[in-house]
Amino acid sequence: MDRPYIICHMVTSVDGKVTGDFLYMPRCEAATQVYYDINRSYKSNGFICGRVTMESSFTEGWYPDLEGYGTVNTREDFIPPNASDFYAVCFDPKGKLGWKENKIIDDDPGYGGARIIEVLTNNVDNRYLAYLREKEIPYIFAGETEIDVLIALSKLKQHFGIDALLLEGGSIVNGYFERADAIDEISLVVAPLSADKNDKPLFMDGKAIALELKDIKQYNEGVVWMNYRRK
Ligand SMILES: NC(=O)c1ccc[n+]([C@@H]2O[C@H](COP(=O)([O-])OP(=O)(O)OC[C@H]3O[C@@H](n4cnc5c(N)ncnc54)[C@H](OP(=O)(O)O)[C@@H]3O)[C@@H](O)[C@H]2O)c1
Repeated sequence: MDRPYIICHMVTSVDGKVTGDFLYMPRCEAATQVYYDINRSYKSNGFICGRVTMESSFTEGWYPDLEGYGTVNTREDFIPPNASDFYAVCFDPKGKLGWKENKIIDDDPGYGGARIIEVLTNNVDNRYLAYLREKEIPYIFAGETEIDVLIALSKLKQHFGIDALLLEGGSIVNGYFERADAIDEISLVVAPLSADKNDKPLFMDGKAIALELKDIKQYNEGVVWMNYRRK
């Protein structure tokens, strides 16, 4: 395969939603724990998230003052040395994520220490590129204004030797992957809750695909894990 193997790993409500208040209700705590345990058991080279999830989970909206940076006028991928075997791949088309370090700072071993890779489009501020270079944060280009998932994945394989990644949401980035036929496996931790009407589905703007159930387990407190592969 000329791209990494992609496992979409998510907590869902029983009605298939992945965002919203239900995730923070006490009834969802056991499912969240199972989710993190399974995350650590997968032998992947890291994880992918959309810009919104990266912001809410890690950067908390911090952004550098770009005034102090020069400009990088080319649209060439930037691959500094110091390769890693564990990556946090950020689908950040406009370069909105502010990182204080070039790796994820988090106590959870499923995330902490992951080396950041920014996946960008040509629609990015030239000064943001200078900022990423100063931080030695690798970046790749994969489209004009929207990220072409297959181009991004093939570059991740080619430049970083990445073989497998967890796709960990949210709904919008998952939808892009599903529409690109770039999901090989789905790992769903279903919490015993239903979600609000405004919450988003597993795949935003998804399409119908056939799946095969490979495994299913029941955990305490009504949590169910289901593992599907492409048919
Ligand atoms: N249930 C779970 O297991 C789970 C896991 C993770 C997250 N979540 C929840 O999901 C919520 C966020 O989900 P979300 O669906 O709103 O957002 P998201 O998927 O995290 O991020 C969406 C953003 O990513 C960028 N993006 C991703 N793929 C792109 C592509 N191919 N082309 C162009 N842009 C692309 C765009 O950024 P721009 O807006 O900058 O253009 C887009 O608006 C979080 O708040 C969290 O609560 C749940």
